[in-house]
Amino acid sequence: MCGIVGYLGKRNAYPVLIKGLKRLEYRGYDSAGVALLTDEHKLNVYKAKGKVADLEAYASDKDISGTVGIAHTRWATHGEPNTANAHPHMSSSGSLAMIHNGIIENYSVLKKQLIEKGVEFKSSTDTEVLIQLIDYIKTTSKVDLLTAVRSALRSVIGAYAIAILDKDNPDEIIAARKSSPLVVGIGEEEFFIGSDASPIIEYTNKVVYLDDEDIVVLNRNKEPQYVDFDNTKVDHDVTEVDLNLAQIEKGGYPHFMLKEIYEQPDCLKDCMRGRINVEANNVTLSAIIDNRKHLINPRRIIIVACGTSWHAGLIGKQLIEDFCQIPVEVEYASEFRYSNPVINNQDVVIAISQSGETADTLAAIELAKSKGAFIYGICNAIGSSIARATHTGSYIHVGPEIGVASTKAFTGQVTVLTMLALALGKERGTVDQQRYTTVISALENIPSLMLQLLEQGDMIRDISRVFTYAHNFLYLGRGYNYPVALEGALKLKEISYIHAEGYPAAEMKHGPIALIDEEMPVVVIATQNELHDKVLSNIQEIKARHARVIAIISKGDETVKKLADATIELPETEKCLEPLLASIPLQMLAYYVAIAKGKDVDQPRNLAKSVTVE
Ligand code: F6R
Repeated sequence: MCGIVGYLGKRNAYPVLIKGLKRLEYRGYDSAGVALLTDEHKLNVYKAKGKVADLEAYASDKDISGTVGIAHTRWATHGEPNTANAHPHMSSSGSLAMIHNGIIENYSVLKKQLIEKGVEFKSSTDTEVLIQLIDYIKTTSKVDLLTAVRSALRSVIGAYAIAILDKDNPDEIIAARKSSPLVVGIGEEEFFIGSDASPIIEYTNKVVYLDDEDIVVLNRNKEPQYVDFDNTKVDHDVTEVDLNLAQIEKGGYPHFMLKEIYEQPDCLKDCMRGRINVEANNVTLSAIIDNRKHLINPRRIIIVACGTSWHAGLIGKQLIEDFCQIPVEVEYASEFRYSNPVINNQDVVIAISQSGETADTLAAIELAKSKGAFIYGICNAIGSSIARATHTGSYIHVGPEIGVASTKAFTGQVTVLTMLALALGKERGTVDQQRYTTVISALENIPSLMLQLLEQGDMIRDISRVFTYAHNFLYLGRGYNYPVALEGALKLKEISYIHAEGYPAAEMKHGPIALIDEEMPVVVIATQNELHDKVLSNIQEIKARHARVIAIISKGDETVKKLADATIELPETEKCLEPLLASIPLQMLAYYVAIAKGKDVDQPRNLAKSVTVE
């Protein structure tokens, strides 16, 4: 939540910062701002409510010179989204400007103390409290900025990635992090900072991922200096990031979400590359090979995640129990972190997170670690906090996901969970050899089946247009497709703002059926399996109440076709792999309903891509 970017070098900072903010806008977009130090040592700060484009419009007739600057795109936590609360925030002396991603939890105590000492505040943000505190320490104790930052951060409780400009020190940016991501880019006589590598990779692929409680001093004339709060030097390796611009641009699609939906066949190939070998009839995950003793015979597995990743976890539970015969629990990370779980060193915790930065998931990992559990991460963002906090893990390798509504990360997570269940099942001898072989080759074939499904895009768009009238939707599925129903409902509500609920189909009778009337469309995942007849009865019950049914069916299922108002056919695959296919039309349905309603699908209101606060 919130994107931060900084530049120090020979270029004009403003265009670099604006472009960087646009790449980070998925992290928050209720206001944006920039601080620039001009060659005349003037500190110009421009802010605007709304998106980065609003900031650009506001700054269009302003002095945007300067080769050092910091910028921010905000997702409000403290204080409503307006210009006063937008970042950068300045200290009262006017000499320091700061951007911040995170939350200062003890800000009200600190603010009270500063007010008592005569400091005046202009905003209602926690961020302004921190920069005022830093300036207060700097001026009253007559210390340099680094000392003041170290001292202030010692009295702060919370999560932060910050970057500070000092008018009196125009060759320097100081940045620090704790529990919020921060990346430093190292170019030729220039430095960058970013919440992730996306604003940096256009200029350099050399980055340093800061650790918690690291402070970096970037100076025009020196090597970056990394220290901790006690001023002890910290060593960091420079990492080369494997990201390219095409991966983070729209590539001709009108929205990132649509691009990411259509990318899924290629993404899943990348996800399986080097891991699935149909000829050798093998699935290999290096994490399992390297950690056999922890993974092969756990007492149970607990999956922790949030949102869409939690839905992937529900599918993972079925896969692991099915193939490995290990009991699995799936917990919301936000609940797990504050529970008192009965967990010990015989348990394995699988943490699933696209961004690798979700605060609740990170806290759940720390709790499980403190109780001795072995932690396996399934992340997308390479080098992210969660990837680094786990004992081992598997990346999903689907490339950067920019659209706020998760699509390709979901199918990537399910693919990794399938490979994990297969590999672990084989090691444990709990998966039938014939089934193992059949599922491996079916999994390898999923990308080409997805391509067939994606060809139905126009048809799904036409279906979607019919349903924009609805204020409520119900999604039903059973077995492996029950989490798909939950995920389909989440996608719709996130981007179209239509209320939607997912249910196991048989639960309909226990309550939701009361809601069903001609106004409430019901999406039913009704593929051919042993429960098909039962789902068919559900459809009849829905039709008897005059609701319209959109059914996701197995190819050629004439029975459901006759009953439903609209049908989308899935190519034939193994039952346990159906979620990978069934989720595609539901993503498209949500996308096209939202588009027909004129909504901003890539940046839906109130949401942010990376939830780095509780
Ligand atoms: C929904 C969505 C969210 C995320 C959730 C967890 O489309 O994207 O529900 O799944 O915020 O995020 P990660 O996976 O980054 O931990």
